[in-house]
Amino acid sequence: MEKKFNRTLVTAALPYANGGVHIGHLAGVYVPADIYVRYLRLKKRDVLFVCGSDEHGVPVTIRARKEGCTPQEVVDRYNKIIRESFEGFGISFDVFGRTTSEVHKKTASDFFRKLYDKGEFVEQESEQYYDEEAHTFLADRYITGECPHCHAEGAYGDQCEKCGTALSPTELINPRSTVSGSKPVLRKTKHWYLPLDKHQKWLEPWITEQHKEWRSNVMGQCKSWFDMGLKPRAVSRDLEWGIPVPVEGAEGKVLYVWFDAPIGYISNTKELLPNDWEKWWKSDDTRLIHFIGKDNIVFHCIVFPAMLKAEGSYILPDNVPANEFLNLEDDKISTSRNWAVWLDEYLKDLPGKQDVLRYVLTANAPETKDNNFTWKDFQARNNNELVAVYGNFVNRALQLTKKYYNGVVPAAGELTDYDRQTIEEFKDVKAEVERLIEGFRFRDAQKEAMNLARIGNKYLADSEPWKVIKTDPERVKTVLNLSLQLVANLAIAFEPFLPFSSEKLRQMLHIDEAQWDRLGATDLLPEGHVLGEPALLFEKIEDSVVEAQVQKLLDTKKANEAANFKAAPVKENIPFEQFEKLDVRVGTVLSCEKVKKSKKLLKFEIADGAENRTIVSGIAQYYQPEDLVGKQVCFVANLAPRTINGIESQGMILSAVNFDDSLSVVTVDRKVVAGSQVG
Ligand code: 2FM
Ligand code: ZN
Repeated sequence: MEKKFNRTLVTAALPYANGGVHIGHLAGVYVPADIYVRYLRLKKRDVLFVCGSDEHGVPVTIRARKEGCTPQEVVDRYNKIIRESFEGFGISFDVFGRTTSEVHKKTASDFFRKLYDKGEFVEQESEQYYDEEAHTFLADRYITGECPHCHAEGAYGDQCEKCGTALSPTELINPRSTVSGSKPVLRKTKHWYLPLDKHQKWLEPWITEQHKEWRSNVMGQCKSWFDMGLKPRAVSRDLEWGIPVPVEGAEGKVLYVWFDAPIGYISNTKELLPNDWEKWWKSDDTRLIHFIGKDNIVFHCIVFPAMLKAEGSYILPDNVPANEFLNLEDDKISTSRNWAVWLDEYLKDLPGKQDVLRYVLTANAPETKDNNFTWKDFQARNNNELVAVYGNFVNRALQLTKKYYNGVVPAAGELTDYDRQTIEEFKDVKAEVERLIEGFRFRDAQKEAMNLARIGNKYLADSEPWKVIKTDPERVKTVLNLSLQLVANLAIAFEPFLPFSSEKLRQMLHIDEAQWDRLGATDLLPEGHVLGEPALLFEKIEDSVVEAQVQKLLDTKKANEAANFKAAPVKENIPFEQFEKLDVRVGTVLSCEKVKKSKKLLKFEIADGAENRTIVSGIAQYYQPEDLVGKQVCFVANLAPRTINGIESQGMILSAVNFDDSLSVVTVDRKVVAGSQVG
């Protein structure tokens, strides 16, 4: 028998507060979760949407160390940025808490203690790297060394970023502590483990038999964990930043961030509803849904449920609709490489265009496979879909009503077969959108909503009210009435997806509230209803706008290349006498011009302190000839003359080769007499 749920608790992964949030986060977790919650609210279901920032863990301490500030300062800064970014995009959390709050610390600590007292942990000693200079155990990320697989230097204790292999710190060749630079030593340390191996016997059938409806990517990952056999997982760490392990003799140990973070969902609920939170977490008639990205699957489908079950009084998730990843311009989004579209920057660069991004990210949602975001596609979807289909239909319907009927909804007359056929096409929209949203297929659901605008556009184009008005004005009343009903339907259908635009449209239609239950109806706007002033719902995005964004990414790429630049190995030593044979001098550029039929070459006349000379140099792509006139450049004076493009070049102008192979002429710091020797 189908289980009866009376309320839905929706959680969205708690983002780490060691950086901002980007389009990958929005597409993978927060927009789908927000669509779902807005939909449930429209359906008048009892729903709670919980999120917050994940403020513990090693990456926070690494950033703090790098910036010379405290971990608390780091998380305070990013909590604010993240919160404001989500607000900016209309992500409608009921609560956005923090894992550094007192309520959370106590909740997580009590949770651990309860499992400890119930004997749900296994205590185990293991050897871990310790930094004797800094007097601290080292988290995996704080140890670097040579990768045992690809032999790259600088691999981390948990992963080699060069070849992508997952590592454990003891596998590194020549390990070093990044805290002090010293060689770490192995030391015994005690930790508490959650024996997932013991939980496998209920976890496996619970997922594979009782939750066959979970997405195939989620099921696939779970099955592969089960096939490998679950192992005990340490839930404590030797670290200063975190929630102290509430057990005697555990000084210097904190809860592992992945132990405390999901408990954050519970503590944030408590923060919002101090007296009523248990109903949401401990009643069988609550449906718990976790929205996450694919890298979080194991924690939400296996580890957290095992924790909840071990505790004993909590419900388990009903579904975990995890998304795959979104790439950016065909490259993996990366915080460390700054390869991302940051939400706070988007809000500044493209103000008022939150719904455009929401639309594009849902249209390209990585629901079944990784997907790609490009600025070109962003522009195309805005211009060809939001503007040309949705906006255009709304605008035409409202403008025509304003023109012919002074903005008052006309009465519909007798319907033609074509009208009836059009109504037939959209009468099932509610059932379809509901089926898709409830199946977590937001991409297809949004397509259905957009389909209303396509139907409307076609209806208007086929009915041609601007022509018919001259011959049959009564007919136009019916056409515009039906068109306006479609416009009102659009405002409702898009409410979960594009909340800002729906609100704007409702204002234009003078409708206070979107009534989801009436979606698909043809009497949403009664005859005589006075409409508001029509305004454009979406604006065309010009090339220059997206070009500026692409340039921003290209600049990032350049900055990364420069940061990763490795100087070429130094050439073999030469004796001093050999160096002395080289005659490098300073010359003043008298004239400079492009060499005909060559993209690369410039021809110089150089004052060299004697008879002047001509030199041809391949730097035309990097300079305007006139900018070089008057400059003092260094040149090799005793290079045997060579003929280049028919010109005899009497020497070579020296240039530095930059990381990207661009050239920069070598000049002198202070003016000297032409012909001065360099040595
Ligand atoms: O992957 C992440 O960004 C984690 N901070 C998600 C935590 S989700 C939950 F468990 F809190
Ligand atoms: Zn490697």
